[in-house]
Amino acid sequence: MEFFRIEGGRRLSGRVRIEGAKNAALPLMAASLLTDQPVTLRNIRPLADIANMGRLLEELGVDIKPVPGGLTMQSVDENRVHARYDIVRTMRASICVLGPMLARRRQARVSMPGGCAFGHRPVDLHLRGLEALGAKIELKGGDILASADRLKGDTVFLGGPFGSTVLGTANVMSAAVLASGRSTIECAACEPEIVELANMLNSMGARISGAGSPRLVIDGVEELSGINHVVMPDRIVAGTYAVAAAITNGDVILDDFPYDALLATVNHCREIGVHIQRVSGDDPTRCTVRVTSERNLKPTTITTQPHPGFPTDLQAQLMALVCMAEGNSVITEKIYPERFMHVAELMRMGAQLYRQGPTVVVAGGGKLIGAPVMASDLRASASLVLAGLAAEGETIVHRVYHLDRGYHQMEETLNALGGRVERIKEEKPAAAETDGLRGEGVSTMSAQFVQDDR
Ligand code: EPU
Repeated sequence: MEFFRIEGGRRLSGRVRIEGAKNAALPLMAASLLTDQPVTLRNIRPLADIANMGRLLEELGVDIKPVPGGLTMQSVDENRVHARYDIVRTMRASICVLGPMLARRRQARVSMPGGCAFGHRPVDLHLRGLEALGAKIELKGGDILASADRLKGDTVFLGGPFGSTVLGTANVMSAAVLASGRSTIECAACEPEIVELANMLNSMGARISGAGSPRLVIDGVEELSGINHVVMPDRIVAGTYAVAAAITNGDVILDDFPYDALLATVNHCREIGVHIQRVSGDDPTRCTVRVTSERNLKPTTITTQPHPGFPTDLQAQLMALVCMAEGNSVITEKIYPERFMHVAELMRMGAQLYRQGPTVVVAGGGKLIGAPVMASDLRASASLVLAGLAAEGETIVHRVYHLDRGYHQMEETLNALGGRVERIKEEKPAAAETDGLRGEGVSTMSAQFVQDDR
């Protein structure tokens, strides 16, 4: 296992180009199951999750070849329909093969994803949506067994207790594309990654309208063609590097910044005293911004919400940032009320955090102190690295494999900006990982296979 050693207190400056979005790429990759023609995706980084999705697709009869900056996928064996537990348990997003496989191959067997680091994450809305399109669904031996003759368009409602579902919308929309007749998805997710998927499917011959709004109307078609598609920039990576600049009181230019997808974040940053100014580029989906911050940051109130509200995937990073503010901030998590694995670790660095249910009060104070801390999921890890950049002294962030699932060589990017982050291979597991001191009760090896958080 590897860890980061971070020397805090260095101002970041320089330029970073934002990489392609992992959370967009995963359902786009799964959409290759909807056609027997080649689907080429570019602007993809070799993240662990992309590799896992590639492995899963290969098992499902998809031929995958690397191309410069991406990969080409072609479904060549449509008889393979089993997404096995061994792969699904490493990545929750594996569930997005269900809709495409069912629509085109008329059957699918996908291992049911389990809980994850931040709580119970059901897939009931995915299943309900596919059933509304005529799928027969049963659970057997921990697998979801889905079958249908051709799916049939209908009205599907995807609202749940925490709003819509992003991957559920991706699943049902992808399936409806090949259904007969018209499907209407009410309470669809409005996330930019859904718009991206709809745009790509439309370029392949689908007929989807309303993407980006809560009502999607899909007129089914007989078949889809192949496509060559450039993946959108990653809004969460962009937000994370904006916070890295701000938390170090730095001055950083970010290229390919998806400004439009981050309006709530830009707005909160402004309240805190962080300026994200567009400096060039007419396209608000990928422009160039300059991030600077005032020396004295101000507190704020943040509530995570479905898009266009403030994204849950940036909650942990903003929490690290407001630890540096003068005064009390209030952060409420409305998508995953248990997504606070970073709280105890930030407290080890001197943060004054008071949690009550889904709300954390951050008594800012402008100071964090380096400490050994443990990453537990992707965004919590990012938050700890950010805190380490701002902290006095040295911070060790264990288990950075979580980080590698969503950020390509983050230490290299930060070092190019003047940070000092070293990736070190652990010779033997840290004591806390083996003796269960953190109450996790998992061994170092099995920790690798705790259900993924994405
Ligand atoms: N939910 C249900 N039933 C369902 C599905 C979801 O009740 O059938 C609930 C969830 O438990 C949660 C809420 O609905 O409370 C939203 O979950 P959603 O289904 O939208 O999450 P997801 O699609 O599984 C994606 C991202 C997550 C991101 C969420 C919310 C990918 C691969 N993952 O997950 O990303 O947090 O949307 O925006 O796109 C990350 O990148 O770190 C990450 C966790």
